[in-house]
Amino acid sequence: MERKRWYKDMVFYQIWPRSFKDGNGDGMGDLWGVYEKLDYLKDLGIDGIWFSPIYPSPGADGGYDIADYMDIAPEFGGMEAFKKVLDGAHERGMKIVMDLVVNHTSDEHEWFQKSRQRIEPYTDYYIWRPARPDGKLPNNWDSNFEGAAWTWDEVRQEYYLHLFAIKQPDLNMDNPLVREEVKKILRFWLDMGVDGFREDVITYISKKDGLPDDHLFPIYKGMPNYNHGPRIHQYLQEFKEDVLDHYDCFTIAEAPLVSPKLALDYIDEENGQIDMMIQFQCQCADCLFTDYLPTPFDLRKMKQAFSSWQYKLKGRAWNALYIENHDHPRIVSRYGSEDFWKESAKMLCAMYLFQQGTPFVYQGQEIGMINWKPQSIDEYRDVQTIWNYHHSALHKSEEERLKRQWRSARDNARTPVQWSSENNAGFTTAETPWMNVNPNYTWLNAAQQEEDPDSILHFYRKAIALRKSLSCVRHGVYQEYRPLSGEHYIYSMEDDTQKILVVCSFCKRDSNFRSIKGFDLNTAQLILGNVDNPRTDLLKPYEVRVYLWNK
Ligand code: GLC
Ligand code: CA
Repeated sequence: MERKRWYKDMVFYQIWPRSFKDGNGDGMGDLWGVYEKLDYLKDLGIDGIWFSPIYPSPGADGGYDIADYMDIAPEFGGMEAFKKVLDGAHERGMKIVMDLVVNHTSDEHEWFQKSRQRIEPYTDYYIWRPARPDGKLPNNWDSNFEGAAWTWDEVRQEYYLHLFAIKQPDLNMDNPLVREEVKKILRFWLDMGVDGFREDVITYISKKDGLPDDHLFPIYKGMPNYNHGPRIHQYLQEFKEDVLDHYDCFTIAEAPLVSPKLALDYIDEENGQIDMMIQFQCQCADCLFTDYLPTPFDLRKMKQAFSSWQYKLKGRAWNALYIENHDHPRIVSRYGSEDFWKESAKMLCAMYLFQQGTPFVYQGQEIGMINWKPQSIDEYRDVQTIWNYHHSALHKSEEERLKRQWRSARDNARTPVQWSSENNAGFTTAETPWMNVNPNYTWLNAAQQEEDPDSILHFYRKAIALRKSLSCVRHGVYQEYRPLSGEHYIYSMEDDTQKILVVCSFCKRDSNFRSIKGFDLNTAQLILGNVDNPRTDLLKPYEVRVYLWNK
């Protein structure tokens, strides 16, 4: 039985605040800038915003290293600006979702500072281990960003575990005091009126007892011993029962390496502990698990990922739909084509927007921003990118290592949003933004697209509005056709009153299209498309069509 929940009718927008819009002219995005753009988001059809972290942070991992969970960073405008945004969003009928990052804190968090000095009750807030007599590290786990997962602390004279950057020590969730802190954080923001949480790498919070060595994984060593760990469901259930159930809010969990089957243990509507899940399978059609192991784009792999989540969650759980976020290069450069920029950006938009679930649009996606090719590593800001550049052994020459980042770096998605063709893309009035803008802003920007009715931005507006008007997207049944085609992605959604057929070409050339049995195109209404005068039997490069039949 499907529960009636408001988030199921909504479209969300993700803001990565440093690069969204600078409102005070210091070169970095902030909440004043967000406030200015609330109407822009509303016009786009957005019903809610997920904020990547906006808490006080030294910024070692773009804010995912939190130094104080119960405040807003002064450079983003502090609590005052946040409340203005919160009220401004609510006045417009929009929800606000915060990023909950509790697998780890910043090493500058007060808890860590006290823990390293063994000041109670913080002594066991983190995962500390003594040096081994053989001089080896406590285990063989890798961090996700910077070499080994253990760093020696001179103050405490012990190693601490960090699954991410050195400045991101992992919390010890087995300590009930730490779980009480998490509940305090949840209540704090919910009491203020926020509407939900995106839970950062939440499937990592329960580590296997004894932190054993990993002999399974060649890279990301250790992951089988902390991802979906032994007490994960117990802890999530505790957060739900003690806090979340008492508020009208939703949760969406980030979950690396998760299949739909495994996801149901978390998000089954009967007995799950959270509401939706950010899975990575849809991000792996051109790589093996991480963007740093690139492979040629494989349409079948992409289709398989989208379809399996549609089929397997149907009636049991609710999908989160996304094609971009702050952790992956831009989708047009990956699954689409920069040569067919406008066509492929529109096609990818319709490709995921008419599936069942709650869609998320990432900042800049709605104008088709593409990957970035800076000339020097000095232009990059991301800890993972910089570490990878300096340590990747496979790609030796400087040029090769830089090109590797052009393809794989998270910073591809983190350059400032291109608002106009003015200086620095209209992102900031400061002379130098905190991170350089992509030089293509002269032709790729929101202001230009606002003027052009045929733009990607207008297409997103239209597609989002259409999506909301179609009951079969919200309530219908998904069916994919020709799953083995390496050229086309075709699916339908159908309910008692209507059905739609979505036809997407991933070809760089014209391709033949045979209609699908049971779908008479002569009786259909073509409600969305990206070419002029489409021909029924032929698809132009990256063409997309959405047909509607009313019953
Ligand atoms: C998540 C975030 C990513 C961050 C990491 C560590 O994967 O999305 O940006 O670096 O967790 O917090
Ligand atoms: Ca600013």
